Amino acid sequence: MKSLAFVVLLCLGCGLMTSSFVHKPPHMWSKLILTHHWPSTFCSMEHCHSKFDYWTLHGLWPDKGQECNSSLHFNETLIQDLLPEMQKWWPDLKIPESSRFWKYEWQKHGTCAAKAESLNSQHKYFGKALELYHKLDLDGVMKKCNIVPSETYYTEGKVQILGQIEICFNSDFQLDDCEHSETDTVNFNVKGAGFSVCDHATPVYYPPLKGKLLV
Ligand SMILES: *[C@@H]1O[C@H](CO)[C@@H](O)[C@H](O)[C@H]1NC(C)=O
Ligand SMILES: *[C@@H]1O[C@H](CO)[C@@H](O)[C@H](O)[C@H]1NC(C)=O
Repeated sequence: MKSLAFVVLLCLGCGLMTSSFVHKPPHMWSKLILTHHWPSTFCSMEHCHSKFDYWTLHGLWPDKGQECNSSLHFNETLIQDLLPEMQKWWPDLKIPESSRFWKYEWQKHGTCAAKAESLNSQHKYFGKALELYHKLDLDGVMKKCNIVPSETYYTEGKVQILGQIEICFNSDFQLDDCEHSETDTVNFNVKGAGFSVCDHATPVYYPPLKGKLLV
């Protein structure tokens, strides 16, 4: 899957140059990780029932810091105009229609992202995540590259199940290589959810919405 993901990144990356930053305040993050959930896999682990058959947003995570500012309370009123989009593309897969997941993501990651002027409000943070998500169009790119869920399951040997795709941006919101922050990425994964970076040598199963799943 690594190599497939690389193809996806190349498809998107053509002609995009990464520019270097000028000033970087201390303790400032340098990369953002846009994470996507595959609801079918997530719900097989978390025992939820998902109606979503597309890659949903999980979060926009700076590569440095967690829970950076407890005085920045989550306030749904500040993103009122974004809520219809949030519900569609950034749903709480475990408790649909709730804002619990956004509050969690804001407190853990958003308050750190907010160290940059470009993301220093809840509206900027959630709005930018949605913007990057749409610009990437992971679903569309995967389909275009003919990477689609399959009913067919590997019956022999070791297999891994695709559950999350992370794509990195620099502080100018240009696509950036994730490789260098691979260890950070692993550390940032959902605690206890069992995600780890896909192994190159092992087949990857990309399950359909109501597919047969291990575990
Ligand atoms: C936390 O946010 C408040 C309100 O915006 C701000 O005044 C304060 O400087 C921030 N603290 C840190 C440590 O960034
Ligand atoms: C949330 O934000 C709105 C709009 O700025 C404000 O009127 C309201 O008092 C805030 N709520 C809380 C709990 O801070």
